[in-house]
Parts: sequence; structure tokens; C-alpha cells
Amino acid sequence: MRDEDVFELESKYVMPTYTRQKVVFVRGRGVVLYDSHGREYVDFVAGVAVNCLGHCHPKVVEAVCSQAKELIHTSNLYYIKPQVELAERLCEISGMEKVFFCNSGTEAVEAAMKLARKTTQRTRFVACEHSFHGRTMGALSVTHKESVRKPFEPLLDSTFVPYGDEEALKNEVGKDVAAFIVEPIQGEGGVNIPPKEYLKTARDVCDDSGAVLIFDEVQSGMGRSGRWFAKEHFGVEPDVMALGKAIGGGLPLGATLSTGISFEVGEHGSTFGGGFLPCRAGLAVIDAIEEGNLIKHCEEMGEYF
Ligand SMILES: Cc1ncc(COP(=O)(O)O)c(C=O)c1O
Repeated sequence: MRDEDVFELESKYVMPTYTRQKVVFVRGRGVVLYDSHGREYVDFVAGVAVNCLGHCHPKVVEAVCSQAKELIHTSNLYYIKPQVELAERLCEISGMEKVFFCNSGTEAVEAAMKLARKTTQRTRFVACEHSFHGRTMGALSVTHKESVRKPFEPLLDSTFVPYGDEEALKNEVGKDVAAFIVEPIQGEGGVNIPPKEYLKTARDVCDDSGAVLIFDEVQSGMGRSGRWFAKEHFGVEPDVMALGKAIGGGLPLGATLSTGISFEVGEHGSTFGGGFLPCRAGLAVIDAIEEGNLIKHCEEMGEYF
């Protein structure tokens, strides 16, 4: 099939939610992508913060291929060995207690918001200006960007405060708030780093008001900031943390981690969440980061840049 045929089929059959670059990639190795004409591209997009090990890392490829030959899907009605192994590893590296697995960042945020509502029995959310938390109705309700929200209003009851403004937070997070959700380092909003004490204040404000503190580390997690999680730069622990993007090594995987609170049987679920393939890939990602000492490398490259 020629590139022009791909473009034509896309415009005829695929809903036009993205403006795409006119290129058809067919292969990737490390940081390099190859298009259908054999041209090489150095990939600075990295699958939008997903390909933390580059393209087709041998450990991820081996994990996915060997798993695919054994068993691909059974559902969460049964035990899934790679799922429990990955849950243990994620808890070890994050210091959190429990994990709910899903398939994307927005689903991880959605689960976090449901957990906050169930725990507090409150309905209102506080989020930050320039936040991005996802496109499903709950996550969209706490996403600041007007253009992505507007066509879908009314959304959930949410208020936006300026990112990094401790006074605004103290004024807004009261006893009617289910959760304050925040990216420890904002991603889509422009790689914004909050003042050193901001997240500590957020912790205190949530403790005082009984609101749940949710960290969205979908983009800042898995080593991207030179620590496993950006929260480590601030020494603050959330009640709930949403993960996605890089944890699945390119396969669709999201995770909601919690400490002190949890869903019980029947309160939430996912047909595909925590399946064999993404969890095997997720284990390979953690192994590769540890074995390659990549978090240290990331910190050093950050300094260099
Ligand atoms: C911080 C943050 N949270 C959530 C999401 C949503 O993730 P997904 O696109 O996998 O639903 C994104 C995506 O860019 C993000 O950057």
C-alpha cells in the first residue's frame, strides 16, 4: 500500500480527532524510527512520553512475544500471575500499598476520582489551571483546557486554582471537596515545576479538610524526572496516584495506586485491565530501567540539557 492510500483510507474511515504528520512509520529501533521509504528519524516524541526505553527494546519484545505464545487473555475472574508480580513491583518502587489496573492514563484518573468520591462521599473536585488529566468524562472534568472541555459540558463539579499557588489551595479545598488532583510536574501544560513547598501544603490542606490527595504521574512517572516518580523530589506522599503512558512499554496499561483506601469487590473493574501482555511488558520495563541504571542516566541527561 502506498503512503497516499494510507492517507486516503484514514480520511475516509477514521474519525478526524488528530492532525497527523504525513509520514507512515514501519519500523523502530531505540531512538530511531524508519518510514516506508527507509528514511530515518530521531524520535523526540517517543510516543507522547510512552517509549521510555526507545522502540522495540529487546526485553519488552521478548516478554510480549513469549507471553503471546502461552496465554493472551482470561479476564479478571481468574488470577493473573504477571499482574500480581507487577503490582508488587509498582508498590515497591512507589511506596504505595495497592494497585488497580486499567488500560490508559485517563482510566487511571477516572478510578482515582471514583475512589475519592466513594471514600469521602463528596462530589466536588479541585484541580489546577493548565492541568491535563484525560478525555473521559471524569478526567475531562478536572482538565483545564477550555477547548477540550467545552463541547462536553456540563461536566462534574470542579474548580481550578492557579498551579503552585498555596493560598488559592487553602481557600478552595474545604470540607465539601472529594479530592485535589495535581500533576507533581505538569506535562501538557508546559513542563511546569511547582514551588518546593507546594505539594507539602497540598498534603496538609487535604489532611485538614478530609479531601483525598491525588497525584497524576501518568506523564511524570516511571523515571522521567530522574526519580521513579516526581513526587520524590518533593518528599510528599499522596493517597492515590495515577500512572499510565510509560509503564506498559508501549502496550496499553494504566494503574491507580493507593495507600490507606481501596475499592472493594464489585466497586470497579476492567475487562482488559492488568492483562497478561501489558503486565509482562510492564515488568520488562521496570527490569530494564533498573538493570540499565536508567533513572540515574535520566537525571544526568537532565542536568546536561
Ligand atoms: C498527566 C496526564 N494525565 C492523564 C493523561 C491521559 O492519558 P491517556 O491519553 O493515556 O488517557 C495524560 C495524557 O497526556 C497526561 O499527560
